[in-house]
Amino acid sequence: MRAVAEAPSKAIITGEHFVVHGAWALAAALPRKVRVQVAPASAFRVTSDKFGDVGSPQLRPVSRVIEAMAREFSAKPNVSVSISSMVPEGAGLGSSAATMVAVAAAFSRLNSLGLGVDEIIRYSMVGERHIHGNPSGIDPAVSARGGVILFRPGSRPKKLSLEGERTLILSYSGRTRSTKGQIGRVTQIRNKYPGLFSILSDGISELSLTAAEKMRIGDMEGLGNLLTVNHAALMSLGVSNDTLDLMVDLLASMGSYGAKLTGAGGGGSVVAVAPEAKEKSIVSGLTARGFETFKVSVPAEGVKSWLER
Ligand code: MEV
Repeated sequence: MRAVAEAPSKAIITGEHFVVHGAWALAAALPRKVRVQVAPASAFRVTSDKFGDVGSPQLRPVSRVIEAMAREFSAKPNVSVSISSMVPEGAGLGSSAATMVAVAAAFSRLNSLGLGVDEIIRYSMVGERHIHGNPSGIDPAVSARGGVILFRPGSRPKKLSLEGERTLILSYSGRTRSTKGQIGRVTQIRNKYPGLFSILSDGISELSLTAAEKMRIGDMEGLGNLLTVNHAALMSLGVSNDTLDLMVDLLASMGSYGAKLTGAGGGGSVVAVAPEAKEKSIVSGLTARGFETFKVSVPAEGVKSWLER
């Protein structure tokens, strides 16, 4: 008997970094998933198609999640965990959160704990804190719940009800970065210029609420304009880099409605929206320049788990 869980990756549409300090942010679950299998074993073991065996520091947070859950529910921590992922690591697309969410969901399923989405998020945060230091919680929230959500720490997330699907273009710069380092850099700026940061943060919070409405009614041109404004705010915090700025410029010259870095920045990916007629040429144009680029439809479903014999 083994338990299997699949959790989606994510794109932050607006509001990353500012969300850590209390602003609203808008995020979407993406159909590219992480799959986790958990089965009883004689000793704790984790393997991953990306990192091999449990010796890799990247896999330590998985053991933290399992230990926390096993302790709390008096369950056996001796399990073998196997992770396979369609999500590039360090691309700003939430691969760690999707992994932690899927691990918590699969361990809950294996032990018939019957945990709901809020508890799965709570346990996945044990691993997320281990990796990122002081994350806002938006990544596991959107991975576990699915859909497109407005999130800010301390408030109940609001799921957008969309009629039909919306298309996002994601393009990976090929450079990875540490989310923890990027969060630290922004926190330093906030501590140095608290008044200025607070004005910027209020502005981005408002921008996220407006972006959610544009997304809801399908005004992709309006949404694109807001993405570009949000990118400028992230540049001003120093979390962009030359490659991401180049990609945002390229997307504008190829006819997108707008684009921005997504996630922690300093590497990772950009997110864009474009007129339907231009999507294909944008994807092939960026791919030809060496950036792994794909189109996704949102909303995507949240974490799912089941038992297999
Ligand atoms: C990372 O996907 C988003 C950040 O805002 C960090 C966080 O919210 O935890 C950079």
